[in-house]
Amino acid sequence: MCTNEFIDIHTHILPGVDDGAGNMVQTVQMLLHAKQQGIKTIIATPHYACGAENKPVTVLLELQEQVQMEASRLNMEVQILLGNELYYSDGILKALETGEALTLAASRYILVEFSLGESYQTIYRGLGQLILAGYVPILAHAERYHCLRKKEERIKDIINLGACIQMNSASLLGGFFNREAVYNKKLVKKGLVHFIASDCHNTRHRPPKMKDIYKNLEKSINSALLKRIIMENPIKILEDKYI
Ligand SMILES: [Fe+2]
Repeated sequence: MCTNEFIDIHTHILPGVDDGAGNMVQTVQMLLHAKQQGIKTIIATPHYACGAENKPVTVLLELQEQVQMEASRLNMEVQILLGNELYYSDGILKALETGEALTLAASRYILVEFSLGESYQTIYRGLGQLILAGYVPILAHAERYHCLRKKEERIKDIINLGACIQMNSASLLGGFFNREAVYNKKLVKKGLVHFIASDCHNTRHRPPKMKDIYKNLEKSINSALLKRIIMENPIKILEDKYI
């Protein structure tokens, strides 16, 4: 597999909109890091929460264009696309319908997060509502929810419901003695993870790593499965096709 064509579907790379890049200098640092990591397509997913001070989509589009221009100026062959990381609440469907909140790269896929201490019932019900409305929810950083830790059956039920699972690349990096990383890798091996993305906020906090994680996982994970997670599934988002 070519290691210079990764797609990062979960990033906070737009400058000054959330707790990610604070300004264009930090955005450029992240772009340079992404280049080193062989990332060719970046979906910017600033946080969106109903009732919060979300930046209007017009502003996000402007920033997307500015980042794209900055990348061109630096001779980077990278494509910047737009979405949101949606904090689930009852109003989120309306925000999607009105276009105030964004799907991933204008597809049927939405990146959804919940409070890390949220109950399993609320997560399951919330994802179910989004699926009924015709979206394909991707549960952001699924490994971080307390109610899903060491609860493989729950993850399987969420998948059977029709949702996808995203894991952060940083949660998989770690040696034999990192018990969490070992457990998270087991979930990947069992086919319970559809996407691995960086959830990068800057170059220190979860930097945009994709090549490192690919190299790390290719030692222990079936190559067809790894290719599907790292490459084929993200392409399905860009093509707006079911995985
Ligand atoms: Fe995020």
